[in-house]
Amino acid sequence: MNNKKAYYITTPIYYVNDVPHIGHAYTTIAADTMARYKRLRGFDVLFTTGTDEHGQKIAKSAENLGIEPIELANRVVLKFRNLWPVLNIKEDDFIRTTEKRHEIVVQKIFNRLYEKGDIYKGEYEGWYCVPCETFWPESQIEGNKCPDCGRPLEKYKEESYFFRMSQYQEKLLQYIEQHPDCIQPESRKNEIVRFIQNGLKDQSVTRIKSSLNWGIDVPFDNQHVVYVWFDALINYLTVAGYGTDDRKFNFYWPEAVHLIGKDILRFHTIIWFTMLMAADIQPPKLVFSHGWWTIEGEKMSKSKGNVIDPYQVAEEFGPDAFRYFLLRELSFGQDGNFSRQLLIQRINYDLANDLGNLLSRTIAMTRIFCQGKIPEIQDKEEEVDRELRTLAGDTVDQVIKNMDTMAFNLALENIWTLVRRTNKYIDQTEPWVLGKDHAKTKRLNHVINYLAESLRIVSILVYPFIPMTAVKMWSQLGIKEEIEQMFIPEDTRWGKIQVGTRVNPGENLFPRIIEIKESEQDKSAQERDIIAKQDKEKVGTKKMDTISIEEFKRLDLRVGKVLSAEDIPGTQKLLKLKVDFKTEERTLVAGIKQYYSPESLINKNIVVIFNLEPATIRGIQSQGMLLAASDQDQVVLLTTEKDVDPGSKIR
Ligand code: MSP
Repeated sequence: MNNKKAYYITTPIYYVNDVPHIGHAYTTIAADTMARYKRLRGFDVLFTTGTDEHGQKIAKSAENLGIEPIELANRVVLKFRNLWPVLNIKEDDFIRTTEKRHEIVVQKIFNRLYEKGDIYKGEYEGWYCVPCETFWPESQIEGNKCPDCGRPLEKYKEESYFFRMSQYQEKLLQYIEQHPDCIQPESRKNEIVRFIQNGLKDQSVTRIKSSLNWGIDVPFDNQHVVYVWFDALINYLTVAGYGTDDRKFNFYWPEAVHLIGKDILRFHTIIWFTMLMAADIQPPKLVFSHGWWTIEGEKMSKSKGNVIDPYQVAEEFGPDAFRYFLLRELSFGQDGNFSRQLLIQRINYDLANDLGNLLSRTIAMTRIFCQGKIPEIQDKEEEVDRELRTLAGDTVDQVIKNMDTMAFNLALENIWTLVRRTNKYIDQTEPWVLGKDHAKTKRLNHVINYLAESLRIVSILVYPFIPMTAVKMWSQLGIKEEIEQMFIPEDTRWGKIQVGTRVNPGENLFPRIIEIKESEQDKSAQERDIIAKQDKEKVGTKKMDTISIEEFKRLDLRVGKVLSAEDIPGTQKLLKLKVDFKTEERTLVAGIKQYYSPESLINKNIVVIFNLEPATIRGIQSQGMLLAASDQDQVVLLTTEKDVDPGSKIR
């Protein structure tokens, strides 16, 4: 291959009986983040995902819809395939278990185990959980309910081939003991070990076609199809080139890391490890099982109607905000709670306030004070400079340490400590004060250089988590190289920013989200006041009550003509307006529903703050704010005394 080290990371392959939800998005985002991170660390990475298309669950769903299973699979697979680019996920391979390349490998492994005497024919008598696709012996169940998901079990008695899993019990325990890090987190590994110690039974690995014929044929007996988990687990070998590309397989397989949810850990350790042992293939290097998300404190379920649709979250909040939230909010092995409010808080505070502001302030100051070019440093560092530089170095070390143990949340915490420290550096060095004194130009240049350098390093560090944002940051900093070609730690060493690079002011990274709930209108207004106050303090105007004419000139006020107005359902105060400004048409969200009917607004001239940072309100991006006078009991729109052209400026 090449002289890079290999890294192979997989997600579970997802069932095609249902559309993607937050659980699917979570593992796949984590795997994508890890893949991007490892590439920055110089690894040759293979990152794969796919769909699990056989088995009774898919067959039943298809039957309920009155279609063939393959039709269902062909339909649903697109929902997964198309989701990944929407979430900025870039897999190297996407496998469907109905592909020929996979069938060949499954049959090969099945044959191998059979020839070895590890698969034998017998009769299965017992219980089966269709949603979990799991066999349950009588001894482990109570009241005909699945011990895992609690749903009713089906009983059957039929001819079946069995895998001699019981024979691998000791070997498996020994293997886990000798490779103590191969199952993580530790607490889950301990559960698995206890389970194995309680005794392994042979595993049924086929279904007779008369009861289920949706699967891969057993190679030497066309009356049977291979059990869906036996089939599905082998996907990890197929995509790595097992039996078709030995060089590829030998390169990647020893480095295999499976990311999975906690519910499928037994399959991925007990059944999978013993299958591999029987086939004389070394088990994967690591199986990491993550926790589950509850939704607003409740278990996610279709019947509760609280299933989170990743397409919708990405559309409303942007894929990077979703990625950031999922990886920042909880430690990867733990369960956690997804809530709209928490997501919005993370966006407003971490992404818009901390990161977005840092970038926009730095770019603005480079433009104002340094003709838009990254300036030179001075000869000597001051204490604040040294602190910032040292923290950046420590941050890189910490991020490496945390990413190596999949502690995504801690790595993000490390990066945000640097982001916040850099914001503080602005407050400490007060570039706007330095800018007033010619004698301080060298110092000012130094400060701006350090700000840009810190952001350059932050961009590389955040790239695996929020790739689209990192690329935007990189481009605003004016850096020409490709961010994905950078290396950690080499390119995150301090002092690599190129003096003279021209910055590119761009859009805000994350518009702040102002979510107005009926009961929270006043609270939200208060929050806006607080944010406005914080912003004021940030630009260093703390002590000013008056504004200068220059500051007033920064306000772009324009007249707009209302083209259309409509109600925003579910709100008491909000209307959505389309407004003509001659050069463009904009959407505005305005809290005037109680005072104006939508029809009464059509063709009215209104006065709008045209250069206000856009905000997303109830999922709608509001591009400006209209002005109105308010006294105690009414709100009255500002308009023009005579008709003027839309787009006219107010001076
Ligand atoms: N097809 C099997 C996996 C075969 S891998 C060889 C399967 N598919 S699945 O579509 O049901 O995938 C579910 C994945 O989503 C699992 O990893 C599961 O843990 C995860 N989640 C399902 N609900 C979840 C949450 N509420 N939260 C987080 N992850 C959850 O299992």
